[in-house]
Amino acid sequence: MNMLNSDCKVVLALVCFVGLIFVCRGDENSGASFVFGDSLVDAGNNNYLSTLSKADSQPNGIDFTASGGNPTGRFTNGRTIADIVVEELGLPSYAIPFLAPNTTGRAILNGVNYASGGGGIMNQTGRIFVNRLSMDIQIDYFNITRKQIDKLLGPTKAREFLMKKAIMSLTVGSNDFLNNYLLPVISVGERISENPDAFVNTVITTLRGQLTRLYKMDARKFVVGNVGPIGCIPYQKIINQLKDDQCVELPNKLANQYNARLKDLLMELNENLPGATFVHANVYELVMDVMINYAKYGFKTASSACCSTGGQFAGIIPCGPASSLCGDRSKYVFWDAYHPSEAANLIIAKKLVDGDTKYMTPINLRQLQDI
Ligand SMILES: *[C@@H]1O[C@H](CO)[C@@H](O)[C@H](O)[C@H]1NC(C)=O
Ligand SMILES: *[C@@H]1O[C@H](CO)[C@@H](O)[C@H](O)[C@H]1NC(C)=O
Ligand SMILES: *[C@@H]1O[C@H](CO)[C@@H](O)[C@H](O)[C@H]1NC(C)=O
Repeated sequence: MNMLNSDCKVVLALVCFVGLIFVCRGDENSGASFVFGDSLVDAGNNNYLSTLSKADSQPNGIDFTASGGNPTGRFTNGRTIADIVVEELGLPSYAIPFLAPNTTGRAILNGVNYASGGGGIMNQTGRIFVNRLSMDIQIDYFNITRKQIDKLLGPTKAREFLMKKAIMSLTVGSNDFLNNYLLPVISVGERISENPDAFVNTVITTLRGQLTRLYKMDARKFVVGNVGPIGCIPYQKIINQLKDDQCVELPNKLANQYNARLKDLLMELNENLPGATFVHANVYELVMDVMINYAKYGFKTASSACCSTGGQFAGIIPCGPASSLCGDRSKYVFWDAYHPSEAANLIIAKKLVDGDTKYMTPINLRQLQDI
């Protein structure tokens, strides 16, 4: 009897071990990450769009193990913040791109990614790229996924799954400033007709509507990132011919204005939408910390991009086959003129998951997962 018991334990243990890697994929009990946003978290949707905003050529993805170093459409050398968060939370797979043809069946129960390079909260944001999925469209697509989940689990279980197991993350807003309000020529009319306060107000009102739509589709666990220090990215330093340690004031000022309103919005929604938790992720301060303390974190530079076409601060042309690549990719905060490297993403993502209230309020992502 004793023998049998211990044999059973070994067998069970093995089944569990294998199960974690293979069987639990597509299991609604494992937890899911639904990712909305822009190129910071796009996992390949723009590969399926006719758009100027693409990361489907080398050396993008060169450090992405799951693809053997081939480009996936991620706008960085390796994993995005959303990918790393999934690993840290122990979910079975990265959120898969909504537009990929094989994003079907039970795989969607571990999460779907709707993010799109160039996308923003406002419909017109990113039109310079010709095509991109703006937030309204990303949420329309979630509505399609929502119906597929109903079919897979039945309405009662589907609702429970979304309320308890699904984390909705929104990483969006930068393009509403960089590729809308602040864009030379295109947005001059808009900037004249709308002062910064009015524009920020329009963006916040639009976002309130979008988050409420997700709530109506049974989403209850949210994390919303604020806008990073967009006046300090290499792109801004190049076009404004700044020194290494300088930032452009207006974009950062707009980001701060939006961020203050976002914090209030999330507090308001926490009070007004019963059963929902909205976590505020202070991406601005997280990125600022890495940029200021870059040497302490082991980086060589926080102002030049690793993948670039040359020139001061390493060029503003998107990273591609014609770009030159830095020697040690782990020493650069920025992969290209706009996007952090995987090394920077790792530092930021770990703080999103386990960070304290300096960065994550009212709780961090591990606590959000557990409620
Ligand atoms: C979809 O296809 C891609 C590319 O072939 C593959 O890497 C990925 O694992 C597939 N996804 C699913 C959910 O089967
Ligand atoms: C934005 O586009 C969506 C989807 O195409 C549409 O439903 C919505 O009304 C548009 N919003 C505005 C403010 O134009
Ligand atoms: C989801 O789509 C259906 C149409 O299929 C529509 O009636 C409903 O209003 C949509 N829900 C949301 C929250 O957008």
